[in-house]
Amino acid sequence: MCGIVGYLGSSQAVPYLVSELKCLEYRGYDSAGVAVIEEGKLRILKAAGKLSNLESLLQSAPSGGTIGIGHTRWATHGAPTDLNAHPHTDEDGIIAVVHNGIIENYTDLKDELIAAGCKFSSDTDTEVVAHLVARNYKSGKSMLQSVIEAVRRLKGIYALGIVNVKHPGEIYAVNHHYSLTVGIGDNECFLASDSLAYRQYTNQMIRLEQSEVAVMSTSGIKLFSFDGTESVRTPISSDTFQFVADKAGFKHYLHKEIHEQPNVLRQTLSAYMSDVNLPVALRKSEAVAKNGIPTAGIALSNGQIKGLERIQILACGTAYHAGLIGKYIIEELAGIPVDVEIASECRGRKLLVNDRTLTIAVSQSGETADTLAALKEAGELGSFTLGITNRADSHLAHLTNNLIFTKCGIEVSVAATKTYVAQLISFYLLGIFLAEERGSLPAKQALELKKSLMLIPTLQEQVLATEDAVKDAAIHYKNAQDMVFVGRGFNYPTALEGALKLKELSYIHASGYAAGELKHGPIAVLDEQVPVITVVVPGIVYDKTLSNAQEAKARNAQMIAVAVEGDKAVARIFETVLNIPPVQEFLSPLLTVIPLQLFSYFIAEALGKDVDQPRNLAKSVTVE
Ligand code: AGP
Repeated sequence: MCGIVGYLGSSQAVPYLVSELKCLEYRGYDSAGVAVIEEGKLRILKAAGKLSNLESLLQSAPSGGTIGIGHTRWATHGAPTDLNAHPHTDEDGIIAVVHNGIIENYTDLKDELIAAGCKFSSDTDTEVVAHLVARNYKSGKSMLQSVIEAVRRLKGIYALGIVNVKHPGEIYAVNHHYSLTVGIGDNECFLASDSLAYRQYTNQMIRLEQSEVAVMSTSGIKLFSFDGTESVRTPISSDTFQFVADKAGFKHYLHKEIHEQPNVLRQTLSAYMSDVNLPVALRKSEAVAKNGIPTAGIALSNGQIKGLERIQILACGTAYHAGLIGKYIIEELAGIPVDVEIASECRGRKLLVNDRTLTIAVSQSGETADTLAALKEAGELGSFTLGITNRADSHLAHLTNNLIFTKCGIEVSVAATKTYVAQLISFYLLGIFLAEERGSLPAKQALELKKSLMLIPTLQEQVLATEDAVKDAAIHYKNAQDMVFVGRGFNYPTALEGALKLKELSYIHASGYAAGELKHGPIAVLDEQVPVITVVVPGIVYDKTLSNAQEAKARNAQMIAVAVEGDKAVARIFETVLNIPPVQEFLSPLLTVIPLQLFSYFIAEALGKDVDQPRNLAKSVTVE
């Protein structure tokens, strides 16, 4: 949430800042701004709305400055206006600050600073930092000391980029339980909350540790802890993927990413299961650890895995839905009881974990604050930890030694699609791995399951080939005010995910329920205006799901199904059927979600919504 960037070198800073901001716009897009030091003055340009608004401003007022910081914002404190956009300054325009995270004690600090004569011009928590640093500096302290003394007074978790007009060759970067990296090029350096932002210019980087200040200049990077102690670290070279802004002929990244799903699964499968006759290759090989970059694999011993009494999965949003299916998979295959928690609900609560618990954090970005905080706490309480993420360079990947990387490439669209199915496939692989380690799955059954998994990408392609029919359905139902999604068993989480996709993409109100729960209350909202989308595939819960659908039909709801092509019982009940090919119930979530993703996409597109960057959202949710 929010993106910090910086550039310092001999070239003009603005083009670099803009190019870095473009890579980070996924972190928030309600306003953006830059501060450049030029001819002994701070030049600040900010604009509410998308980055393109700032770009237009910058084009009309070019800058020759070679040092600057920039920011793309997702508003927490103060509306998304020009005034509240970052950077923020002290009243004399000496210090400029960009900030991610939240300063929790900002009201107390603001009262104190106002009483001391400071004049505030925004509603943000950030502005206190500019005034604190400026006051320290004006009292004669060095810039480093001014920054350190200011941040020691802040409560919360945050990252900062700071420049001082009197120090035109330096950027001060601060990380406090957040993520911030410095990129090192030839006589130039970059600052970014995600190294993706400067990967096209350099792959040499330093990740700031917790409670650390970096002083960046063309002569090098100096690192200091909050007590002023200097430390030295060699840059690491990051060879993970670059951001490539390519829609491959699709109108939206979302549509492209939905279509990438078969190949994403092929890549994740081939990384961990190249031969179905061998055990799933999730065991960590010490030989591959390199360069300080986390590597995939599970380092728990066979004895530790056999000794597990409970698994707890922590995640938010779409990743939480993947975790709900993960529970069914692991319980079924490995016979270990699994609880799934919305990560933010773990905060401030007693976590019942011990050294026989495995806590799994699922996060495509690897930066979700709620998920990271809950995982850290579980680890501190003695639980084993494991991360499933799409970003090998993320905060999450540095928090635990047990990692599964989904092989999706960057997911640009804010709504998660391909990373969701990759998280699901990771759970199938993890389930088989745990079962193989614990001896809870007969070899023949494991082999059959692995062979079936290998066929899923092709079946997904068959689903994607039906997208014209999904588009017709989307256009037919696009004016609904509310929609209800239901499913049972493995497809109950699919219903939740279908409802979330529709809400975030089209802004139509939607709710997902376990189909059996309809009659316990939600059925009261049904009438002829409400489409009910039922996910129903042959298997253990098939008949009961159809009965629940009949209950909705009896209330005159508009009936839509995601079901196996040619299912006659389904054809008798539902007016619209979104087809999938025959698939076993256990693996069906890998297919059933696709028509729902497409349905939401086509509705949003027909309604003219901002498909890739829906209102009020951000791709990486780094505040608690
Ligand atoms: C998905 O479409 C959402 N935008 C959102 O729910 C997301 O899944 C959630 O914020 C968790 O993100 P993470 O996977 O990066 O942790």
